[in-house]
Amino acid sequence: MIFLVLVFSLEVSNAQLYVTSTGGGVVDLWNTSSIWRTIRNSSSAIKVLEYDSVKKYLYAGSENGIVNIWDLDRNLLVKTWNENGNIISIKKINMTHLSLIANNQLVIVSELNYSRKQFGLGSGYQLDTLNIIENENKILIGSGNKKTLSIFCLYR
Ligand SMILES: *[C@@H]1O[C@H](CO)[C@@H](O)[C@H](O)[C@H]1NC(C)=O
Ligand SMILES: *[C@@H]1O[C@H](CO)[C@@H](O)[C@H](O)[C@H]1NC(C)=O
Ligand SMILES: *[C@@H]1O[C@H](CO)[C@@H](O)[C@H](O)[C@H]1NC(C)=O
Ligand SMILES: *[C@@H]1O[C@H](CO)[C@@H](O)[C@H](O)[C@H]1NC(C)=O
Repeated sequence: MIFLVLVFSLEVSNAQLYVTSTGGGVVDLWNTSSIWRTIRNSSSAIKVLEYDSVKKYLYAGSENGIVNIWDLDRNLLVKTWNENGNIISIKKINMTHLSLIANNQLVIVSELNYSRKQFGLGSGYQLDTLNIIENENKILIGSGNKKTLSIFCLYR
């Protein structure tokens, strides 16, 4: 049985493509009729995907904490690292930075040199969702167990 974990709509080389992950660390790229390319660089299930339509980069976060960044145009694994904990969410902040939730922390990663900054919300807060408020340079974090929304301001 196939469980469709994630479906994203991508645009690569002017074609409309889709990306799915069905578990086991495999990511399939689809055109409208069939699987166009399969990429795999993780032994455990891919839990989150993010796509940068300008760079044509695909960001995949897996259950065992591996983050892989793929350049789809060049078919190249650009960067891989281990967050040592389940990746809950990955979102691009802007052209040079991305944010993710891992180990119950918000992590901001520079794609210029892959330096990381980590932020926690306080004890007892389970970080579950993340979204970028683009024009305001803010990150919205949802905590399910505390039923709260928090806003991180990226510039002060
Ligand atoms: C989709 O990809 C398959 C495999 O590469 C190819 O044979 C087929 O022509 C493609 N279809 C479209 C609509 O691009
Ligand atoms: C992912 O790719 C890198 C570089 O090609 C390789 O060193 C690593 O072993 C791969 N990991 C897995 C889980 O396939
Ligand atoms: C990465 O670049 C930022 C500026 O973009 C700089 O502040 C930081 O020190 C750099 N980190 C490393 C490890 O080079
Ligand atoms: C992208 O966001 C990071 C993190 O907030 C910030 O440091 C950087 O200056 C931003 N880059 C651009 C081009 O806006």
